[in-house]
Amino acid sequence: MQLVIVSDITRRKLDYINVTLILKMCGIFGYKGKKGALNTILTGLKRLEYRGYDSWGVSSLKKGKISVAKKVGAIGDIKVLEREDNAVIGIGHTRWATHGGVTKVNAHPHYASDKSFVLAQNGIVENYQNLKRRLAARGYKFISETDTEIIVRLIEDELKRSKGLQKAIIWAFKKLQGRNTIILLTKAGRIFAVRNGSPLVVGVGKDEIFIASDTLSFADKTDDVIFVDNLEMVVLDDEGVNIFRVSDGKRRKYKLQKLDHRDVSIDKAGFPHYMLKEIVEQKHTVREAVQYSIEELKGLMKSIKSAKNVYTVGSGTASFAAGQIAYFLRKYASIPAVELKAYEVDSYKQLFQKNDLIIAVSQSGETADTIEAIDAAKAREAKVASIVNMVGSSIPRMSDYPFFTRSGPEICVVSTKAFTSQVAWGLLLAFSVAGKHKFVKRSIEEFSKKLEKYFNEDLFKNIRKLAKELLRKEHIFVLGREQNYYMSLEGALKLKETAYKHAEGFASGELKHGVIALIEKRTPVFVIVSEDDVKDDLLSAAAEVKARGAWVIGISSKNNELFDNFIPTVDAGIADPIAKVITFQLLAYYLAVELGNTPDKPRNLAKSVTVK
Ligand code: F6R
Repeated sequence: MQLVIVSDITRRKLDYINVTLILKMCGIFGYKGKKGALNTILTGLKRLEYRGYDSWGVSSLKKGKISVAKKVGAIGDIKVLEREDNAVIGIGHTRWATHGGVTKVNAHPHYASDKSFVLAQNGIVENYQNLKRRLAARGYKFISETDTEIIVRLIEDELKRSKGLQKAIIWAFKKLQGRNTIILLTKAGRIFAVRNGSPLVVGVGKDEIFIASDTLSFADKTDDVIFVDNLEMVVLDDEGVNIFRVSDGKRRKYKLQKLDHRDVSIDKAGFPHYMLKEIVEQKHTVREAVQYSIEELKGLMKSIKSAKNVYTVGSGTASFAAGQIAYFLRKYASIPAVELKAYEVDSYKQLFQKNDLIIAVSQSGETADTIEAIDAAKAREAKVASIVNMVGSSIPRMSDYPFFTRSGPEICVVSTKAFTSQVAWGLLLAFSVAGKHKFVKRSIEEFSKKLEKYFNEDLFKNIRKLAKELLRKEHIFVLGREQNYYMSLEGALKLKETAYKHAEGFASGELKHGVIALIEKRTPVFVIVSEDDVKDDLLSAAAEVKARGAWVIGISSKNNELFDNFIPTVDAGIADPIAKVITFQLLAYYLAVELGNTPDKPRNLAKSVTVK
């Protein structure tokens, strides 16, 4: 198949800074090949399921007719839909509901009235109410409650005037406000996809082409990819892939890029859930994150040393890793690095300067808030480094110094191994800047070996027992300090996400300034104690809460008489924060299991969903 690619990144209608960021994390997948379209789409959607998992739909073309099958719930077996899978072209969608409840009718793709095309969207039409009102006044009826159906009706309406579907799609697309990436399958055997905001990539295999929300969804099929930029339209037909810019319809040639996908396997490898598998995988993934040579780090290290200000940014769990990285840079390399919350960018963006460096931390590489912070830094000519897990995602492509955690796909919506890899990489960076590159690598290597032994049935039983004792507790506190401060925040977040418990992480120094008022008889308080300079402070905090009736649970490599319960951790030296946070990951996992929650897909969450 011939490749003709056109793009325009100079004249964007919108950019990440200007739009109101409300990103719906759905997943889209399109396929054109020889046969087996439905199975290929289904496999792709399963790999995209982390982006949304309340309902899904697939659509294929056979004998000039487009069929649609939709279901509520997890992505199921294609055999339910069709016995023989002879289709050569189709699209699919996995949904995380925003407009309209989780129903079969609201699942995508949505038919055109005459069934000449179907359409699915990843994004939100922010002006859908206005558009809907106008379309309704013109006599259009709506079957679903979704904003996506508005796009279908807009295109239909424009088709009455426009010459051809391509023009009608572009016209309709320009009417949409927000971040919308859409995909259409037509009766004539073509796939159209247009990107704005939400990611879109094309994979080119032998006699088959994929269009999807990420490269992971087709990573088992091809490494050859084309990244679609914002405000570009992909047209997939018998001639191959064409990409047009939305602004003026022009195109340009483009080369395929090769992706380095290391571990792309996404099965549970015998574990009951991805969460447990990914927690245990940390014994290897922490090592993978520090494989960079001093040569590979040189550019970034130079930039850190010459930067006027060094900031780290991220959202959620990744923001805690960003905080930890800034802490390591301050503590071990005397670099005055500061963590900033990506979603607060409006409050500090005017401070970015030409010689600043920002280090962006993200598992997905697609988080809208983090991208917005990067855009703000770039607009003021600051340099950008990033540590990202998803190869081929947007953030590394926006970075002057892109680095990868190389943890393999993190399928569980709750981040575990990506977080500890980000922290391990932070150690590598800080110690390398301090001239101790060999030392940090050796330390993580030793820690990884200790973890091999640490993950065993006794540990799992011990933590599961504690989880059972905590089942009826509604408020849980976690105290940390210095190297374990961000671990207390992350530990508490894990408990919130999977156990739906109110858990709060605090710096132990905060206790006397107000938090201690919350302590009642049998209030569970976790105390994270490392063998470091602040050990005694933590033990004092444990004594203070214990004196007020708290149930003190020690997370430490050494037991102490102050602990009512004790979960032993690996004594990990510089990697101790990682050793400590693993306890909370396991506890969050077993609490979810005991409570009957779904650890891999907690309620209301989608991976990297960002709302501003
Ligand atoms: C929590 C979690 C989220 C993400 C956050 C940023 O377990 O996964 O808090 O860390 O949404 O996502 P990324 O890391 O993809 O930028």
